[in-house]
Amino acid sequence: MTIKSLGYLGVASGRAGEWDRFATRLLGMQRVDDAAGVQAYRMDDHAQRLIIEPSAREGLAYIGWEVESPADLEALSKRLIDGGHAVHVGAPSLARSRRVAELVWFNDPEGNRMEVFHGAERAHEPFAPGRPLSGFVTGTMGMGHAVLTMGNPAATMPFYRDMLGFALSDFGRTPYELYFFHINGRHHSFALVGTGQSGFHHFMIELKSLDDVGQAYDLAQLEPDCVSFTLGRHSNDYMTSFYMKSPSGFLIEYGWGGRVIDPETWVPHETFDGPSYWGHERLQMAEAQRLHLREMRLDAARRGLRAP
Ligand SMILES: [Fe+2]
Repeated sequence: MTIKSLGYLGVASGRAGEWDRFATRLLGMQRVDDAAGVQAYRMDDHAQRLIIEPSAREGLAYIGWEVESPADLEALSKRLIDGGHAVHVGAPSLARSRRVAELVWFNDPEGNRMEVFHGAERAHEPFAPGRPLSGFVTGTMGMGHAVLTMGNPAATMPFYRDMLGFALSDFGRTPYELYFFHINGRHHSFALVGTGQSGFHHFMIELKSLDDVGQAYDLAQLEPDCVSFTLGRHSNDYMTSFYMKSPSGFLIEYGWGGRVIDPETWVPHETFDGPSYWGHERLQMAEAQRLHLREMRLDAARRGLRAP
């Protein structure tokens, strides 16, 4: 596995002001004071993790994946080029604005921009959260996870598995197709969901304390239409979390207590229990799908499903 973690996320948005309030007051990130005027946020000792790019559209701008060294970056580029993919070398000015030593970029088969880099710049000052909290779980497990939605994830899955070297954690077929991938101890750093629509489904950030999540849950309920999935626990990565609607319309999962796996011994498998043991009621979902998911949870409860 040459890609070792999710390094950063770029969001295209025309709602800079809304994002600033959301990222700091609700998510608890730290606004980076940058002379270049880039709207960026810290979550840990990295110089930046979330970047809001001015745009007329709302959605994902790019996902930044970290490799260890220049040699790993070159090896990955070569594999992509040999596989028939166009790989662009990021100009020094682009690397500077991403605050990394070096990067390349390319599009996945669905047209989502992926960037791969090495040498993330570290901040000189300790992380100062936007609201009182105990901090984010990052380090070797990266920023969190990112989930893309598309019409036919089975067609795109081989690109991530064979070109980027992502390892399958598990997959499900109902109520829609789901593929979860790991690149480190985090159960999944990336996933593909076959909801039928193309776009950015959500990204997840993990907190060090359940109280951080609970307090955000209280704050989010004060915002109109903000909570999209109620508090619940996922059946594959064991994350206790809730989902908020971001200013750009995609979701953000705010979680605690995710499972850490051993990538050396992990065996990929199909899952049948539905996405959650309890909770995660989809408040903005169409009635039929929502009832289907609720029935899967009630079945999990009837069977007494539990996780460590
Ligand atoms: Fe998630």
